[in-house]
Amino acid sequence: MALNTITPQVLAYKPPHPKLEEFVPARDRALFADPTKAALLAEASAIEEVTPYIGTELKGIQLSKLTDAQKDELALLVAERGVVFLRDQDITLDQQHQLASYYGKQDRDPHQENPNHVTIIGRDGNIRQHDHFGGEFHADHSFEVNPPSYTLLRMVKTPPSGGDTVFTSLSALFDKLSPRFQKALEGLHARHSADRSYLSSLNGGGHPLRAPIATAHPLIRTHPVTGLKILAYNPTFIDRIQELNGQESSHILAFLREHLLNADDLGVRWKWTPGAVAFWDNRSVVHKALPGGYDVTLREGKRTAIFGERPFFDPDKSESLSQRTERLNAGKKDTATHVSSEPELNN
Ligand code: SIN
Repeated sequence: MALNTITPQVLAYKPPHPKLEEFVPARDRALFADPTKAALLAEASAIEEVTPYIGTELKGIQLSKLTDAQKDELALLVAERGVVFLRDQDITLDQQHQLASYYGKQDRDPHQENPNHVTIIGRDGNIRQHDHFGGEFHADHSFEVNPPSYTLLRMVKTPPSGGDTVFTSLSALFDKLSPRFQKALEGLHARHSADRSYLSSLNGGGHPLRAPIATAHPLIRTHPVTGLKILAYNPTFIDRIQELNGQESSHILAFLREHLLNADDLGVRWKWTPGAVAFWDNRSVVHKALPGGYDVTLREGKRTAIFGERPFFDPDKSESLSQRTERLNAGKKDTATHVSSEPELNN
């Protein structure tokens, strides 16, 4: 049976929790951070940009020992670099819950048994098969009105090989579209639907907590911390672009999938080790766990997340990565001109 079939069990099932109501989260902790991140970076024995567009690995830092100022700076680094990696963390599960709560209201995935975390396990199978769910790029449960923002996954055990996770930057993905195409996509809305994940979970023996919903979010959104434009494309949950006709919508979505799958230059592949952590920004990054080829019982992790703001697009207060680079370079040139003209003025 196809996993997305409507069966008598599906029709009879009554999810135990009500639908989530929209709310306005507390101010993003990254906005409280010292922009130089001096307190956090001083503590690190090494800071490595894993790729130019996404991913920084911090060495010599224990999440369990961060001060509040360092936590804020870590959130800023996550917002700026998409994902921050750390290895050999000694943080306990309770401390991980506390860290999540520091950043905001703890998110609850509709399939999450423990109210504070999701237990992530190994994934089997072949992503090329029909109904293989979860092996595709996604941002976590983006169908919510308030989808998660900061998400932290800590691996407790990992197989010697296999089970890597790939992360791709959606601000870089937006930036690599031509300016004409960027303009054409701005102002559109994508419908993010929980239907497939709901059916797949129920028919696979799961007990989703909430009934499936569908929510329209801006296809291009503004990051509330960096002000960057993000191509909020999510192949796992988006099923249509609202303002377009059916054929137009399916072709644009097919193009966006190709654009994402070709973006090896905008992504990073993380190989896990026990105690390793990936702390990512679910607003500006998509990820996928590579399934198959290893013993799935050897992979287990704990994921915590917080609810983010309702996605928005503010064309007047956002820019692409290239526009930001140009603006900053122009600022540097102005400063250089100003500095070099000073001796003349003084003479
Ligand atoms: C997830 O999709 O949030 C889990 C990622 C992983 O298993 O690596």
